[in-house]
Amino acid sequence: MLINTWYVAAESASVTTTPVGVRMLGQDFAVFRDKAGKAHCLSDVCIHRGGSLCRGKVVDGTMQCPYHGWRFNAGGECVEIPSLGPDAAIPKRARVDSYPVQEKYGWVWVFLGDLADDERPPLPDFYPEYEAFEKGAAEWRFVRGTYVFDAAWTRVVENGLDNAHPFFVHQDFGNPDNPRITPVEIQERPFGSYSTRAQKPVEKRGVWAEKITTDRPDVRTELQYHASGPTVRIQMHLRPPMSQIIVSAYTPIDDKQTLSWWIQGRNFFTDPKYDDDSRRRVLTVFQEDANVVNHIKPVHVPPSLSAELTIYPDAMSFSFRKMIKEYEAKGWRIDTKAMAAEDEIVRVIPSPARKADPKNWVMDPVLLRPARPMSQAAE
Ligand code: FES
Ligand SMILES: [Fe+2]
Repeated sequence: MLINTWYVAAESASVTTTPVGVRMLGQDFAVFRDKAGKAHCLSDVCIHRGGSLCRGKVVDGTMQCPYHGWRFNAGGECVEIPSLGPDAAIPKRARVDSYPVQEKYGWVWVFLGDLADDERPPLPDFYPEYEAFEKGAAEWRFVRGTYVFDAAWTRVVENGLDNAHPFFVHQDFGNPDNPRITPVEIQERPFGSYSTRAQKPVEKRGVWAEKITTDRPDVRTELQYHASGPTVRIQMHLRPPMSQIIVSAYTPIDDKQTLSWWIQGRNFFTDPKYDDDSRRRVLTVFQEDANVVNHIKPVHVPPSLSAELTIYPDAMSFSFRKMIKEYEAKGWRIDTKAMAAEDEIVRVIPSPARKADPKNWVMDPVLLRPARPMSQAAE
C-alpha cells in the first residue's frame, strides 16, 4: 500500500456533523463535517489513552474524544483538556494528524501522506458527464455504490485495467465466441494512462435486447487510469450514441481487502425506473470479477515485472505496475511486514504538518520500505 496518494474515504452524503470511522491503508480515521459544512479527516487514535475519536462527537467544529473529552480542531491540534481546566497550557505534542480533504464526484477524498500542497497530485478530471449531471444536465443518468473485494488493491486495480478478461469473466460484456481484441494503443497521461480497443459485440438478452440488436458495429472500449484514487474509468461505446461508463476509485482497506467506490453512467434508458436494474448489473460485474480476483496468487502483484508473462492486451496493467514501482522508488510503500512484527504499537500515516515540524508528535509514522533507484525497484 502506498502513501502520498488521494483516496476516497466516504460518500459526501454520508459525512455529517456525526463523525464516521473509516479504515484505509490498514489505519483508522475519523471523518466529519464542521458546522460550515467543510469535511475533515483526523487520525482516529487519541494520543492521550488511545480513545477512538470517531466514537466521540463534533463540538464547535472540533472532534471531542469520547474517553476524557479532549477536543481536537480540524488541524488536529488539541484545544481543550477538560481535566486541566480552561486556563491550562496545552502541551505542544497534544495533537493528532490531520489530512487534506477535497470533495469531487460526490466523494470525500483524503490525501494520506505528508506532501505539501504544491507537491500533491491532482484528483482525476475524467468524468465530465457526471459533473454536467450534478449541474442539472439530463443526458446521462447515474447510479452509485460500493463493493468490497477480498483481494489486494494492486490485483483489483489491475483487473479494472485488464482488456482481455471480460470475454471469460463477464456474461454481459465479453463475446466468448470472438475474444480477440484489436491491438491496445496506450497513451501515457499525467498521473496515469489511456487506452482504447475494439471487440465484436455480444448478443444481449432481456430488456437490453430491445435497444441493442445483433446488427451492430464493434464495441469500442476506452480505459483510463489515474493514480489518485487510484481511479479507473471504463467507457463502452455500444451502438453509437449509446454508451455506458463506470468510474471506480479503489481504496485499500488494508493489505488484503479493497473497497471499490463506483459511479455508473448511461445515456440510454435514462428513466429512473431502470436504476435498480443498472445497479444490479454493476454489482453482478463486480461479483464476477471477485470470483476470479479474490483467488489470484500471489495475493499482491509480484515485485518483479518479469515474474508473470505480459502480452500486448496487458499494456495498461503493465503501465500501472510501473507506476507502483515509481512510488516504491520514492520510499512511499508501507512496510506492512515490519509493522505486523511489532507488538501493540500504533503508528499513523504521516500528515503534511509533520514535514513542517517533524518533532513533537506522540505517535510515530508508519514504517516505509526504503527508497531505492528505479533501476533496482524494477527488478
Ligand atoms: S483517550 Fe482521548 S481524551 Fe483520553
Ligand atoms: Fe471485470
